[in-house]
Amino acid sequence: MSLYTFFILSALILVARASEPVAGGPTECVVKGVDGVYGYDPTSDHGPDAWGDIPDHHYETCKTGDIQSPIDFPTEVKYGRLADGPKPDIVAANMTWSAGNSNWALSCADDEGCGVTMFAGKAFKLVNTHFHSPSEHTLAGRQYPLEAHMVHQADDGSYAVIATMFDYPQDRDYRSTIYTRAHVDFNKSPLVKSILNSMKEGREKFPVYLGSVIDANKGYCVYVGSLTTPPCTEGVTFLMSMNVQPVTRRQVYAYKITAGVGIDGNNRPTQPLHKREITCYVK
Ligand SMILES: *[C@@H]1O[C@H](CO)[C@@H](O)[C@H](O)[C@H]1NC(C)=O
Repeated sequence: MSLYTFFILSALILVARASEPVAGGPTECVVKGVDGVYGYDPTSDHGPDAWGDIPDHHYETCKTGDIQSPIDFPTEVKYGRLADGPKPDIVAANMTWSAGNSNWALSCADDEGCGVTMFAGKAFKLVNTHFHSPSEHTLAGRQYPLEAHMVHQADDGSYAVIATMFDYPQDRDYRSTIYTRAHVDFNKSPLVKSILNSMKEGREKFPVYLGSVIDANKGYCVYVGSLTTPPCTEGVTFLMSMNVQPVTRRQVYAYKITAGVGIDGNNRPTQPLHKREITCYVK
């Protein structure tokens, strides 16, 4: 089978999967998840612009809130010292895989906890990790192929989310990519690779090496927003890493297949910034 045939077949499988008849109704690409019914098709009455109007689910904040996420990170920001920024202490932890709504997620399954991020004098414990493709946030107008969300919660119930962007590596020198096999593995994300491998083996609980994403710390840009999925609860501190990770097209594609992401992606569109300030804790 040629590579071309492979991609056509894979694309058909992706489309077929996205349009499987599911609980949302006969014509909608809506998957029923643990948190109710919502989807990403902008033309559907369960699409992002209509989340707040879905009956019986109390997602009103998605519509009436004024500090919603995601946002386009503006070029005008305030600066803080790197030393005052978020301090993640996360290496690896056993997490449990579960399928959700147009996505899957990994929940902390370790009695010892899965790591802590200190910020603004509070200890936020890592509770969940998931991805969105394409990215939900944009950085100065630029969207990325993949965004990770590491959801943390403090003892007072408040949320902080470390977000990390993934991007395709720069195209390499033509001669080296055509004559070596090294490029096949060049700049794969080790995190995405290990998660997808564990899923492929059918494991439900496995170690997740988040340290590979968190370690190299170039600082964070921080603002207060909301959960990016219903019920769109506000007061969530977003910690956007300034350390973009490499990922391959094949990895992003594999993620989308496993998560049941259709042609609309599983990213909520960016929401108005209103008067919010962004503070960047960088060198
Ligand atoms: C995950 O659990 C296994 C079995 O209980 C343990 O041996 C291993 O050290 C754990 N891994 C991490 C990263 O905590």
